[in-house]
Amino acid sequence: MHGHDLAVSAAENYRAFAEDARGRSPAYECLAGSVAEDAAVLRFLGTLPPEKRQPNLLFAAARYLLGAPADITGLRALIRQNSAELAGVMMARRTQTNEPARCATLLPALAQLPPPLALIEVGASAGLTLLFDRYSYDYAGHQIAGQDPLAPVLRCTPRGPVPLPDRLPAITWRAGLDLSPLDVASDDDVRWLSCLAALASRHAQLRRRAPAGPVPGPVPAPFDLVAAQSTAISEDDGLVTAVAMASLVAAGRGGRNALRTARAARLALCRPRFLSQSGE
Ligand SMILES: C[S@@+](CC[C@H](N)C(=O)[O-])C[C@H]1O[C@@H](n2cnc3c(N)ncnc32)[C@H](O)[C@@H]1O
Repeated sequence: MHGHDLAVSAAENYRAFAEDARGRSPAYECLAGSVAEDAAVLRFLGTLPPEKRQPNLLFAAARYLLGAPADITGLRALIRQNSAELAGVMMARRTQTNEPARCATLLPALAQLPPPLALIEVGASAGLTLLFDRYSYDYAGHQIAGQDPLAPVLRCTPRGPVPLPDRLPAITWRAGLDLSPLDVASDDDVRWLSCLAALASRHAQLRRRAPAGPVPGPVPAPFDLVAAQSTAISEDDGLVTAVAMASLVAAGRGGRNALRTARAARLALCRPRFLSQSGE
């Protein structure tokens, strides 16, 4: 993740983040570049633990408090007048997204597995990426109807020989784990997610993309409890499949090692498949 290398200084991280934002987000490129040269903002960041100094966390927390994206002048003023509250938000929150569109890229792989499926998502955020079977899909004209007609249609352009399914796999059981589960029914949690979504230039309202029915709230638990969750599934529930979407990078080395250990030690019990689109 650019801007989150614990081995280098905060200034270097903000410079790397600015470079990465070039061509994608001029506002964040400019803001991160300014922070890298700003002694007062860097001093404020120095009061936080290293893992809490990352640009996307600072920018989302500032936006959350100011009600609008900050520029360097607004950020300096916020730190001068209200550094305790800004630090409080950065300490309490994590960098989180919940992007249903990721279901479209993982669905072809899930559909290759023998049904029915019992799904565990590690790093489930608000639970929206556990709802594979509620969304509808449009893969450049290849359409698959979901169970919830009011849920969004996720569009995706496949490249290469992608095995597109004709129907959605049956999912009989699902659970999400997250260190800090969010609730799509909470205005505050949705506002936090919106502050982070701005980073990726996605301004669509989260609730518009959420299916109409109830969303199963993730369990507050770290990745390594995936073993405990999966032993709660009966054989009739089907093939246990653990999915990770954009969460292994967010978890850092500690979280990834915990998951590896859990996989090696306990998961032989129900022999789950692991599918990841997190680069691991
Ligand atoms: C970038 S978000 C991705 C959320 C969702 N999977 C998606 O694709 O939209 C990563 C999530 O992983 C969670 N997370 C990070 N480290 C974790 C850990 N060690 N155990 C459990 N959850 C973790 C974060 O709280 C966050 O909600």
